[in-house]
Amino acid sequence: MTKETIYSPIILLEAREFSLLTAIRDLFGIKNDMAAIMRFNQILTNTKTNPFFKQVAILDKFLADEERVKHATTVAFISHLLATKSGYKTDRDLKTLFLASFFHDVGLFDLLPHVKDENEAEIATQDLEKYFLHPQRSVEILAPIGVFTNDALNAVRQHHMRVIGISFPYKFKTEALCPFGQFIGLAEKILQLLKENRPLNGNDMQKIKKIIVFKVFPSFNSKITAELMPTFSIT
Ligand SMILES: [Fe+2]
Ligand SMILES: [Fe+2]
Repeated sequence: MTKETIYSPIILLEAREFSLLTAIRDLFGIKNDMAAIMRFNQILTNTKTNPFFKQVAILDKFLADEERVKHATTVAFISHLLATKSGYKTDRDLKTLFLASFFHDVGLFDLLPHVKDENEAEIATQDLEKYFLHPQRSVEILAPIGVFTNDALNAVRQHHMRVIGISFPYKFKTEALCPFGQFIGLAEKILQLLKENRPLNGNDMQKIKKIIVFKVFPSFNSKITAELMPTFSIT
């Protein structure tokens, strides 16, 4: 493994509000960054025998994939904005949301490395079964790492679940989905709309806001969408 594949994701994550480096420091009770980097390095060189280390190796591969990191970062950023607009401001909540939103698709990367876009209509028929399993696979990869709380794991598990039941991996109608999973799902919808309308011009933002309020919001938790309504009001 080159020095770069070990260090670049750490440096990238360190620049964010909460980082994997901090997670490693918390997990192992390590006081300074250099010791945490050395510990991470040590973890990566011990991937063969221990399942915990194998999971960390999957994360490392994920973090070295530029396109995945771009999706992860954008979704984490938009989720963070949505959460703060909805009143979630504590470090604990934002740390949970960051970890969940950044790593929500690590299972997709593991099951279907060639699938880069989550547009369901464009997923090949033979890939659909695995595609529907990816949130659960993400949880299987992240849970043994030890820094992901139950709230973070639930958010990852539910990031494709909607209150009207048209979702996976479980299809049932409920308002009782965890808020962080809803923020990730909403962030992905917003990202998809922005992508479809690029390059954006004068009236596009108004059009996108209308779609979000009238077509996207009804699939999501009504308490969250009510809190977000002023953010997406059409002027
Ligand atoms: Fe995603
Ligand atoms: Fe996903």
